This record gives sequence, structure tokens and C-alpha cells, in this order.
Amino acid sequence: MSKISKMVLISAVSIFSLSCFALEHDGHKAESKKGVEALSQDLRGLLSQEMIALEKGVSSLVPQIAAGNWHEIETTAKKIKASYILKQKLTKEQAKELHTKLPESFVEMDGAFHKDAGMLAHAAENKNAELVNFYFYKMNNACTSCHSKYATHKFPSFKNEKEEEHSH
Ligand code: HEC
Repeated sequence: MSKISKMVLISAVSIFSLSCFALEHDGHKAESKKGVEALSQDLRGLLSQEMIALEKGVSSLVPQIAAGNWHEIETTAKKIKASYILKQKLTKEQAKELHTKLPESFVEMDGAFHKDAGMLAHAAENKNAELVNFYFYKMNNACTSCHSKYATHKFPSFKNEKEEEHSH
């Protein structure tokens, strides 16, 4: 092999490995950080709508719980439960997109959150203030757990130093 073709071969090989590295790096990023941001506009819009409704619902629970308005609590909690994005009228493609772009643990967290809303409604039906507060706490805890894991682009104060090093 001539000196020149050897050099060409070596540079071709290094370019190839470099691009593999870049692809792998990108792929990893897409999986761990970009899930929600990679969603299509429609789906992201739906998620955003669900979140705004959630915030409204959860905020209205505070005075309802304080006053022991069991029936109102039950109604609000049932509304929150029904806002489950995975249960909305998604097209087949959208449902598939959600499941391919979002990690399984996101779907599980969302599911657990909505299940707790159902439990809250049930506790209110039984006029059990202590249990109502317990599920209210669990629901609030779910906001911060999910946001600190999947929505640091929206809520940067949950970013830890490690993540900050990697972004930009
Ligand atoms: C299973 C995960 C998950 C749970 C649980 C969750 N969120 Fe979110 N939330 C997200 C993600 C992801 C975003 C960012 C969406 C985006 O960037 O498009 C978000 C965004 C938001 C936003 C900003 C919406 C906007 O577009 O302006 C609000 C407000 C919000 N969440 C409130 C809440 C509240 C309140 C709770 C709890 C009662 C909650 N969320 C529970 C995942 C979650």
C-alpha cells in the first residue's frame, strides 16, 4: 500500500469512529434528557394543557381541604384523575409516539399520580381528613419528583450540578 493510500485509509477510519462516537453521544442524550422536548408540537401542547389544568386543580384543593368540603374535594380529584394524558383522545400515532419517545418510568410516574388522585377522591368520599391530606401530599410530591427528573428544561432550579455540566 502506498504511503498516500495508507494515510487516506487512516483518516477515513478516524472520521468514521468520530462520527460513531458523536452519534452514540447524541443518542444517549436523546434518551436521557430530550424525551419530552422531542415530542411533536401537538403532544407537547396537550401535555402543557394537562399541566396547567393540574396546577389549577391542585391549588383549588387547598381551601377545599381546609374547609372539609368533601364533595368539592371529590369532584376536583376526579377531574384531576380524568386529565390523564395517556387516556385522552390521542390518535393511534400520538399514542405510539408517547410510548416511544417517553421513558417507561415517565409513563409509570404519570400513572401513579393519577391513581393517587383517585385515592384522594375516595378518601374525600369517606370524609377521612387524614387520608385526604396524605394523598394530597403524595400528589404534590409527584410534581417535584417528575419535574426534577423530566422537566428541568422548564424548571431549571431542579437541575443538579452534574446535569448542568452537560448542557450547552
Ligand atoms: C409524570 C410527570 C409529571 C408529573 C407527575 C407532573 N408534571 Fe408538570 N410537567 C411535566 C413535564 C415533562 C413538564 C414540561 C412540559 C414541556 O416542557 O413541554 C411539566 C410542566 C408543568 C408546568 C408548566 C406547563 C407549561 O407549559 O407552562 C406546570 C404548571 C406543571 N407542570 C404543574 C404540575 C403540577 C402542579 C403537578 C402536580 C400536581 C405536576 N405538574 C405533575 C411532568 C410532570
